[in-house]
Order: sequence, then structure tokens, then C-alpha cells
Amino acid sequence: MADQLTRDEAQDLVLVEHPARRHGPDGAPLEPPEWLAGVALVTLNRPRALNALSFALLLRLAEAVEALDADPSCGAIVITGAGTRAFAAGADVAELATQTAESLAASPGFRGWDRVAAVATPTIAAVRGYALGGGVELALACDMLVAADDATFGQPEINLGIIPGAGGTQRLARVIGKARAMELVLTGRRVSAAEADRLGFVTRVVPARETLGAALDLAAAVAAQPAEAVRAAVAAVRAAFESPLADGIRVERDLFRALFGTPDQAEGMRAFVERREPRWRAPGAIAIPPDGAS
Ligand code: COA
Repeated sequence: MADQLTRDEAQDLVLVEHPARRHGPDGAPLEPPEWLAGVALVTLNRPRALNALSFALLLRLAEAVEALDADPSCGAIVITGAGTRAFAAGADVAELATQTAESLAASPGFRGWDRVAAVATPTIAAVRGYALGGGVELALACDMLVAADDATFGQPEINLGIIPGAGGTQRLARVIGKARAMELVLTGRRVSAAEADRLGFVTRVVPARETLGAALDLAAAVAAQPAEAVRAAVAAVRAAFESPLADGIRVERDLFRALFGTPDQAEGMRAFVERREPRWRAPGAIAIPPDGAS
């Protein structure tokens, strides 16, 4: 199966541009190119299958984001889908149809979901068109979500006799609440970008053509911030999402304390006192462990 594709065959399933180019309001990269320091663009690249997330693609995606996560010059990652029709129309149904409980448990591709969600670098999903099933689960696993006004979200797994298996029931329930998540998971009803905005699971909705440019500009704004504080903030906000309040407060407190004594903390406070703009170090080695333990 696709899990067994060779590295060469899998290579083009995910495209990586780092640093990424700035995009204009027409949706195209600017010419001559302007490079966005610290920003990487990762593109799911199966447009003819609406970027369906095969195991080979998931594996390649996990490898790509892990490599960027380990690269000190990468301060933010934008994930998008090739073409204009879909971010991703879910797991690859044809491939899924041949699976068993055992093959899923043994699939390195399936484990790609957890690898992608575990990167410490902030991630932003840029969603045009369909984000269904695994597509919306991938978008929800990102730290921020910029949606096109033509985006459509949904968890249609129930219509296939299964349930979301990549965090959909958990993340959606935490973000939009049990009753609303239950309706979407039990009926497979699709929601528009406007409704997703009202439900509170997107960062912002923008005109379709501007989606990628807006996500890249947001990533550039994040990548321009002090890298250690960014990673600490990401870890702390994720803790709010993933743990009981008391544990999250502890994580936040540990991360807050750990930032004191870092060069950027000294520079940020010195710059404030001297009434000038701070000069942050370029994204670099991070001394703080992601769980804030120190
Ligand atoms: N897995 C595999 N292939 C998929 C896919 C998926 N999740 N979603 C779309 N495709 C493929 C289609 O098979 C089709 O391929 P073909 O041209 O070789 O026949 C191509 O992408 C275009 O899809 P199509 O269904 O013809 O487009 P549409 O505009 O009529 O419908 C969708 C778009 C997204 C509504 C529809 O494709 C769909 O419902 N996809 C499945 C969504 C889903 O159930 N996801 C959860 C999986 S767990």
C-alpha cells in the first residue's frame, strides 16, 4: 500500500519552501520575490485527489515538519493544500477501505498524525475549499487557522461507517463544545467558513485569493518575535488546550520563569527602558523543554 511507497515516489506529495515567498493580494507570489524570514511553507500536493491524506503523504508531512522544527532558522510553519479546491478532503478513502484494525495500528503513516501535532514550532493552516475528515483534523492540530471565505469544514466519517480518528472528536469538542461537536460528528454536516468563524475554530476568515498570503504574513509576524518566548507561548497555550487548569497554570509558570535570564528577555526589557525597538536574536537553539519543566 501507499505506506510502502519509496522515498522518491513520496517526495512530491509534500512541497517545502523555506524561506517562503510573500504573496500579493491577487494570491500569487510577488515578483521579484520577497522572502519571508523565518517562515516555511508546506504544501500538501495531491490536487487531483483534493489533497487526500494518504499514509505516504502523512509520513512525508511528518518528516517535513520535523525537519523544519529542528531548523533554527524556521520560526513558523504554514501548511496549505495545492490548488484552490481543497486544503484536504480527508484521509484517502480508497486506501482506508483496505485497512484492518491491525494494519492501522502498525502503520507508520497513521502515526504521522501525532508527529505533526508534536512539533514545537508554531503552525498555521491556510485553508481554501474543502477541509473534511482528516483535513479538518490536520487544520485543528495546527496552532492557528486562516480560512478562505469559500472554505468548507466537516467530519463526514460517520457517513463511511467510522468516526474521526486523528483527533477530530477531541479537538473539536474542546474548541466548540460538546453539543456542537457532537452534532457535526454524528451527522457529518458541513459548515461554511462564516459558521466556523462563529463557532470559534478559525483565527480569521479572509477573501479566498488572499488566504495563503494572509497566513504567510501572520507567520512572518510570529517569526519576527523572540524565538524562545514564541516557543514558550506555544507550549503554554497548547497546555491550556490539553491539560487540566492547574497543570496548565504550572506549565505556564515554569515557562514564564525559564524565560528570565534569556538574552531576548534582557534585550526586550532593556529596549523598553531605553525607549527603542528590541533587537531579537534570529530564531535559534531553544533552551526550554516543551513541557516547561526546568
Ligand atoms: N480520498 C480519496 N480520494 C478522494 C477523496 C478522499 N478523501 N476526496 C476526493 N477524492 C478524489 C475523488 O475520488 C476524485 O478522484 P477521481 O477524479 O480520480 O475520481 C477527486 O478526488 C475529485 O473528487 P470528486 O468527488 O470528484 O469531487 P466533488 O467536487 O464531486 O466532491 C468532495 C468533493 C470533497 C465533496 C468529495 O470528493 C468527498 O466527499 N470526498 C470524501 C470526503 C470524506 O469522506 N472524507 C473523510 C474521509 S475519512
